[in-house]
Amino acid sequence: MYIIGILKWKWEEIMIEKFEQTKKILKDQKQEQILEYPIRNKEEFVSEVLKINFEELNKLYDKAIKNEKVKNSKIEPIPYIEKDKLSEERKEYYKKIGENIIRNNEYAVVTMAGGQGSRLGHDGPKGTFDFGLENHKSIFEVLCDRLKEAYKKYNVYIPWYIMTSRQNNEDTINFFEKNNYFGYSKENIYFFKQGELPVLNDQGKLMLNKEGNINTAADGHGGIFVSMEKEKVTENMKQKGIKWVFIGPVDNVLIKMVDPIFIGICQDKNMLAGGKSIIKAYPEERVGVFCKKDGKPDVIEYTEISKEMAEMKNDKGELVYAESHINCNMFNIDIIEKISKNKLPYHCAHKKIEYLNKEGQVVKPEEPNAYKFEAFIFDAFKMLDEMAIFRVKREEEFAPIKNAEGKDSPKTALELYKNFYSNR
Ligand code: UD1
Repeated sequence: MYIIGILKWKWEEIMIEKFEQTKKILKDQKQEQILEYPIRNKEEFVSEVLKINFEELNKLYDKAIKNEKVKNSKIEPIPYIEKDKLSEERKEYYKKIGENIIRNNEYAVVTMAGGQGSRLGHDGPKGTFDFGLENHKSIFEVLCDRLKEAYKKYNVYIPWYIMTSRQNNEDTINFFEKNNYFGYSKENIYFFKQGELPVLNDQGKLMLNKEGNINTAADGHGGIFVSMEKEKVTENMKQKGIKWVFIGPVDNVLIKMVDPIFIGICQDKNMLAGGKSIIKAYPEERVGVFCKKDGKPDVIEYTEISKEMAEMKNDKGELVYAESHINCNMFNIDIIEKISKNKLPYHCAHKKIEYLNKEGQVVKPEEPNAYKFEAFIFDAFKMLDEMAIFRVKREEEFAPIKNAEGKDSPKTALELYKNFYSNR
């Protein structure tokens, strides 16, 4: 009893000291206003503040308010291979190479499922969404079906790594548990969390979230490489002898996670990475496009492309920048290791972010009120000299679910999904 008392007293002493240290950091960083807000748990607060890299955060905020434009670069279209134009013989050739890699247990799949389905209005991880199939399969189950198909074909359980975020990690794992891992091999499904960064209000100040903790957000899917390293995912893959890793989003119900032709092309052409593309449907479509920037592979995001470039046509009347990036990319394990040694740059977005006010009420802003910082996976492409761009058919591989209604909604995705499966 006496010892417990002493330990408790010692612990309280350490906590008081740490809290004082935290207060000093906040004061030095001109962030002490946060102490006037209803912090839920002092211990958690202290550990959260001590984790913040204020130097980095201040730089990001400065860049955000200055709205710095990217330097002028030389942008050119990127060469690609079109699936439809490959002869049957050639397809078979690549397919064999890819199938060998799969059969040799050298292939893994990663699903980026850390984002919140906020545009969709779904309360929960996006992968748990029921998009309207009669059998009520969730997006995760539809994705898993692809791996089950591959198991039937190749008798191999392709390891499946799912990137979650602090916000949805527990709900995601519980969903898989509840659904008995959709009948796939549980030992071959892994979860790892992506990183996060504090969001800053318009004045560059920290805020509290509705739970009374520091308001943070997932740091974008570009954080994947650092997270894979930190969470020992890359190490785990290397131990298994994985050579090729497909990284794709959670929100495309026609995603082809196992495509031996694509794997075969990347391997045969000695590439370190590859990306699937589809033809951009119309200039304003909300997709990034592959290009070459200063001679290196890159993607110009739909938020960053100029109208002139988006509408530019060649003499056949086709869009010049038409290779839409669908976030379905392939990486060699060696390049994953290399990329994870360098942090990718952060892009800034001005967003509506709810917060707790001094009175402890949750405020849901009507207008953007805060800055969020995100890294994009495709910023890694510039570290490569070349990339295999593989143009595939939209109706076979792209049915995104982004918005609650209208374009790229559950309704459009359901239609595309049904069309594809009825034609198979
Ligand atoms: C994305 C691409 C765009 C592409 C389009 C195709 C970006 C920045 N842009 O746009 O080039 O043409 O998809 O549909 O990605 N995610 C995380 N963690 C995060 C953020 C996102 O895991 O911190 C995941 C999401 O769960 C989703 C995927 O990444 O699976 C795409 O993210 P999203 O923010 O929806 O990208 P889009 O703006 O739709």
